[in-house]
Amino acid sequence: MATSVQINTDPAFQRCLSPDCLATYDLGEELTACKQCGALLDVVYDWDRLQVPDTLRQFESKWSRRNQPLCHSGVWRFHELLPFAPAEKVVTLGEGQTLLHASDGVGRYIGLNAGGLFLQYEGMNPSGSFKDNGMTAAFTHAHTIGAKRAACASTGNTSASLALYCGVSKLMQAVIFIGSGKISYGKLSQALDYGALTVQIDGDFDDAMHRVRQITEQLGIYLVNSVNPFRLEGQKTIMYRVLEALDWQIPDWIVVPGGNLGNSSAFGKAFLELHQLGLIDRIPRLAVINATGADTFYELVENRGLHWNEGRPETKIMDAYYHELDEAGQHASTIASAIEINRPVNLSKCLRALDVCQGVVREVTDQQILDAKSQVGAHGLGCEPASAASVAGARLLRAEGVMSPSDRVVCILTGHQLKDPTATVAYHTTDSEEFNRVLASRGVSHAEFANHAVAVANNLDDIIRAIQQNSREA
Ligand code: F0G
Repeated sequence: MATSVQINTDPAFQRCLSPDCLATYDLGEELTACKQCGALLDVVYDWDRLQVPDTLRQFESKWSRRNQPLCHSGVWRFHELLPFAPAEKVVTLGEGQTLLHASDGVGRYIGLNAGGLFLQYEGMNPSGSFKDNGMTAAFTHAHTIGAKRAACASTGNTSASLALYCGVSKLMQAVIFIGSGKISYGKLSQALDYGALTVQIDGDFDDAMHRVRQITEQLGIYLVNSVNPFRLEGQKTIMYRVLEALDWQIPDWIVVPGGNLGNSSAFGKAFLELHQLGLIDRIPRLAVINATGADTFYELVENRGLHWNEGRPETKIMDAYYHELDEAGQHASTIASAIEINRPVNLSKCLRALDVCQGVVREVTDQQILDAKSQVGAHGLGCEPASAASVAGARLLRAEGVMSPSDRVVCILTGHQLKDPTATVAYHTTDSEEFNRVLASRGVSHAEFANHAVAVANNLDDIIRAIQQNSREA
């Protein structure tokens, strides 16, 4: 149904995702959905009226000015590709100082040729996850419009990130909503320590998300979940840094865990814009990886045929599935608590990303996730369970033959290993009770790559013997 479209004359504005609506809104409006039709919003730029470098390589010149916070930030040194805020309003903590690591060891596990696998380690961000890329952007927007309180529902990383930006800047109070018992201690400890008002809801992430939308609207609190289009602007830069690390060559695949589908949606938008701007000539394929116990996107796309359909995805398919979940009283359940989500808020945007990037969706079990995680750890980086879904997903796509051994593949490691030590210790433990309590209850039956600690009496000879028996020189 066509609506009266207000033409926005600013070089940057917000626009409804639906091609049948396309309503536009000023940057100054705080919205998480179109006021006319309820669809998600994009931040859109009139590039002809903005200064964008002719080549991506031109961004390298920022390195020589990295004493300036905006050139130092791995997000804001690409400011020209997310030009929605004036430089003086940007709130940055030096986020995005992350690296792309070549990892032949993990590549072998996946089944790729030497030189084929790269791990984009977002755990190096100030709060330990990729969320800081988006938080600096949403926080900057919130600051621009004078917000004094900001809120989110979270499986733990978004809340840690918001709490950090509030704690350092003191520009806003953080109000975070979490499902009771649903977030790992590492993440909970961050929110508490950074001083966020922490509201534990009797329910899961989907319940908390539902409530935070109601509450932010009623109380006029700024919402920073990834329904906020500015969040995704920041997360686009993860892809710019990947390209930069590959000397601006395009990889064959980007593999990313899917939870609320903000990251994958942002990656799709990044490539769409770079291509439209003529800054890249090819778009990599995208693989979004769900956990089996939280696999709405996989189910809808791969089994029920939902697709972007030029911006008109069949809502009937989604509604029917959600109705089934409700009828069955089914809640998301996975050891990868960060992606324990059944109702991803960015679903339609992510359909666009799949369309742009010839994407695929897969699901991996908790067993596959933890085995992949231990391989990432064994090769030195370490990540939290959700992040390892990318590696497990790449392995599956190789086994299926969708990915070829000679492909160049980038897996996004979304969060730091220390975010969720419980899962890691349980995988490596010799204590079967601990293993059963944390992992067997999730269907994890074995720990093929466990690195058991050696128990030894407090006696010099015994300790020396244990070391000689169990160690080897590198
Ligand atoms: N990996 C980690 C470590 C995450 O924390 C999340 C999401 C994802 C992957 C999935 O990313 O939502 O963009 O698809 N965590 C959110 C949170 C939901 O509240 O911290 P997505």
